[in-house]
Amino acid sequence: MSLRKDFLWGGAIAANQAEGAYQEDGKGLALVDILPAGGDQRWDALAHPEKALKTTYDHYPSHEAIDFYHSYKEDIKWFAEMGFKVFRTSISWPRIFPKGDELEPNEAGLKFYDDLFDECLKYGIEPLVTINHFDTPLYLATEYGGWRNRKLIEFYERYARVVLERYKDKVKYWLTFNEINMVLHIPFFGGGLMFEAGENEDQVKFQAAHHQLVASSLATKAAKEINGENFKVGCMLAAGDVYPYSCHPDDMMKAIEANRNQYFFIDVQSQGEYPSYTKRMFEDLDVKIEMEQGDEEILKQYPVDFISFSYYSSRLTSADPNRYKDETSGNAFESLKNPHLEASEWGWQIDPVGLRVTMNNLYDRYKKPLFIVENGLGAVDKLENDTVEDDYRIEYMRDHLEQMIEAVNDGVDLLGYTSWGCIDLVSAGTGEMKKRYGFIYVDRDNEGKGSGKRYKKKSFDWYKKVIETNGEQL
Ligand code: BG6
Repeated sequence: MSLRKDFLWGGAIAANQAEGAYQEDGKGLALVDILPAGGDQRWDALAHPEKALKTTYDHYPSHEAIDFYHSYKEDIKWFAEMGFKVFRTSISWPRIFPKGDELEPNEAGLKFYDDLFDECLKYGIEPLVTINHFDTPLYLATEYGGWRNRKLIEFYERYARVVLERYKDKVKYWLTFNEINMVLHIPFFGGGLMFEAGENEDQVKFQAAHHQLVASSLATKAAKEINGENFKVGCMLAAGDVYPYSCHPDDMMKAIEANRNQYFFIDVQSQGEYPSYTKRMFEDLDVKIEMEQGDEEILKQYPVDFISFSYYSSRLTSADPNRYKDETSGNAFESLKNPHLEASEWGWQIDPVGLRVTMNNLYDRYKKPLFIVENGLGAVDKLENDTVEDDYRIEYMRDHLEQMIEAVNDGVDLLGYTSWGCIDLVSAGTGEMKKRYGFIYVDRDNEGKGSGKRYKKKSFDWYKKVIETNGEQL
């Protein structure tokens, strides 16, 4: 067993799924603020945001969320009690630039994060900050067309420079975009994209991706100018290797292509250039990336320092179209059902060994330190006698941590692990509160009702022990 002594154990949340206070202290609307709760309704709104914009829903879960904006002191105290070394959260872009295209930031928004990071540091908890986690200001989507518009690079760079400068003495670890590959799968979340009938959606998505990749490198450039090597900047991938369904060579080739579809982003962010396979990939999709002079240099000069990723599941593909009758979905990604795996209540397939596979492949490919910044089980919890007996969550995490340690023993350099939703929060995919990930239960339901009171689950003490023993006792 060989986790580094300074291994960063902790938990992760995102502003848009936890803070609430959606219009407080000058905050503008984020993309997520127009989305309702509930599986089908939410997915429909994500697929057709132009319709969602004109619809009035009964309940918008992000408006209050778990009210972390007001409860952060209490919540961080719980994290400190568990022994967190690191806490991952995001800065809400529309708290800092309410519409996104202003020249001057909103001081009240900046002040909130000063207080939040100070509170973490008070307990020796290192903040790990995502600059953009699914909450591009809504105005940039409705007025500018989201990330399809090159102007967003400028707005994002201004925003990134402001927060990097402001928190340079408080935050060391930065992530430029949460799950940057999500722009291909949930383009509204990932890029504030809405489509016109008949347009080549792949063209729009990959052009938006190019803008984000350039923006990400510009943020890294800003980070290095502001604080040199004291800042560590990472990319963030929704990871999970794609397996071939069978040993048929066509299935193998299909899996290589599917993996490239996600690794493409990190290939650029880590290696600083578009990989050679993109030429054919773009030709097949009839995509032509418009680049401006200087884009390639920026990508080349400012690659990321480390590779972070979320891992919930492996995926499965086949070249045989008949196999697709048995499709299953997990976290917005198409995947066949793997007969060797069980699935969560939301159909996400559970594959701890897949974490080891993914880590080994990422490390072989990039040879840069890795950071697992999301992993966990979304489940229905039952609060009884002021606690939740969540043995299923402990089992899920134990199995994944065992494989994580195996990967480290395989030679992977791993900086840390932050479990997703360390305190219950609103699900990104379904908008439900019922899909809980936390060690801390929050009394709030799918309709936003409940006292908001926090309770320790059984997994709370378990994770505390894991941290205390640096993973020796799982
Ligand atoms: C990741 C996101 O895709 O998965 C998180 O970065 C999200 O924002 C997490 O919450 C789990 O997904 P869900 O749909 O269960 O909330």
